Amino acid sequence: MLYRCLCLFAFVALSSAACDTTWPNSTETKVTWWQCSSGPVMVTNVNPTDKKGVYEYPIRLTEPLLIATTVNDPSSTYSSPGLKQTIKVWSWNMNSCSWTGVPTFGLLNNIDACTNGVPCPIRPGNNQIINLELDFSDTPAIINLLHNDKPYQLEYMLHDDVTNEDLCIIFQARALTK
Ligand SMILES: *[C@@H]1O[C@H](CO)[C@@H](O)[C@H](O)[C@H]1NC(C)=O
Repeated sequence: MLYRCLCLFAFVALSSAACDTTWPNSTETKVTWWQCSSGPVMVTNVNPTDKKGVYEYPIRLTEPLLIATTVNDPSSTYSSPGLKQTIKVWSWNMNSCSWTGVPTFGLLNNIDACTNGVPCPIRPGNNQIINLELDFSDTPAIINLLHNDKPYQLEYMLHDDVTNEDLCIIFQARALTK
């Protein structure tokens, strides 16, 4: 009985030590996303596209891209200067089998959303597709840290200072950075 228990422990230890996931959440072939705010704006779909609106996967961070985000906005209008944007980036760590933060040097913290890729104003309405532009080409300090053709996780957070409301999306995708 004791022998069997020890065996079981050894097996558990072995299986948790190895990270065999190069592409967490099937990011090799498709984007994974979820909403990280609880409303009032609700996200029903997220689709990465190139600048012209054509579906793009893997995403290409060397040029501006659009995150076509379908939202239901029940009541609020968001605009400048109240609407602020913060983007966080993680890379996939094969040693720890977890996401590791990539420094963004404060460049993407609490910046004016309407002049940084959000088509303002965002108005109430259901099933609206909002094209959130993502452009790392003007922040070489960040893009130079990113290895080519790897999975990345992005948190795209919009906070409105006027209503104190948030819209947050987590987005995991295979990305080309060269
Ligand atoms: C995979 O996606 C789910 C949500 O669909 C999330 O809860 C989970 O943390 C993700 N796993 C990783 C390794 O990011």
